[in-house]
Amino acid sequence: MPRPLFAGNWKLNLLRAGAVDLAGALRKGLEGEKNVDVVVCPPYTALAAVTEVLKGSAIGVGGQDLYWQDSGAFTGEVSGPMLADLGCRWVIVGHSERRSYFGETDEAVGKKLRAAQKAGLEPIVCVGERLDERERGVTKEVVGRQLDGALGGLTKDELRKLTVAYEPVWAIGTGKVATPEQAQEVHAFIRERLLKLSDAATAREVRVLYGGSVTPENVRGLMEKPDVNGALVGGASLKADSFLKIARG
Ligand code: PGA
Repeated sequence: MPRPLFAGNWKLNLLRAGAVDLAGALRKGLEGEKNVDVVVCPPYTALAAVTEVLKGSAIGVGGQDLYWQDSGAFTGEVSGPMLADLGCRWVIVGHSERRSYFGETDEAVGKKLRAAQKAGLEPIVCVGERLDERERGVTKEVVGRQLDGALGGLTKDELRKLTVAYEPVWAIGTGKVATPEQAQEVHAFIRERLLKLSDAATAREVRVLYGGSVTPENVRGLMEKPDVNGALVGGASLKADSFLKIARG
């Protein structure tokens, strides 16, 4: 079983002072915690301040997105080497908000994850179906297409260095968490897909996180499922006490 990973996606929230306070409280609250990995993904503007606060701690820092070119005339974008230069070791790619509000395709997600790995960052690759897709019974088709589009062609070694997050779009920010059974069904499907793309050892090793309205109250039920290896947390990661409860159990 891979080590559980809990990642906080702060999205478009917090100015530097608030981000520093939250990071400081997490550092304190997670001191001596050896059983789980914890990552926070602040907005770009707070990354430098947060990496400074968390320097020398076990808490990793990640970007929420990146562009696939390292540098050049791409106004507004931030690259993998820039994130790495700030001390990030992680980056979220293909979040459903990027896909739906900013038109990100599976192909773009694939390019971003390759750029992240080239820069030495560990990508957290998000997949998940919309409500209408679940209602039409095409959840696995959608998630399978997203996985193949982003991960197809990666070597086993590259697959081992990424994390997948299953985030049903209907569960994100809605308070409507997937049941542990719903999550497990898709996680097992993701694991099968990883097996097709690699081998049994690799498929077992890749962490598959659940994301979408995770709270301290519902996380244990999800974590009891064999293919759920942690959580990507939005709203509940913005308060130290709730994120600590999620991460520490
Ligand atoms: P949520 O967001 O926990 O607020 O639902 C999760 C995510 O978007 O990663």
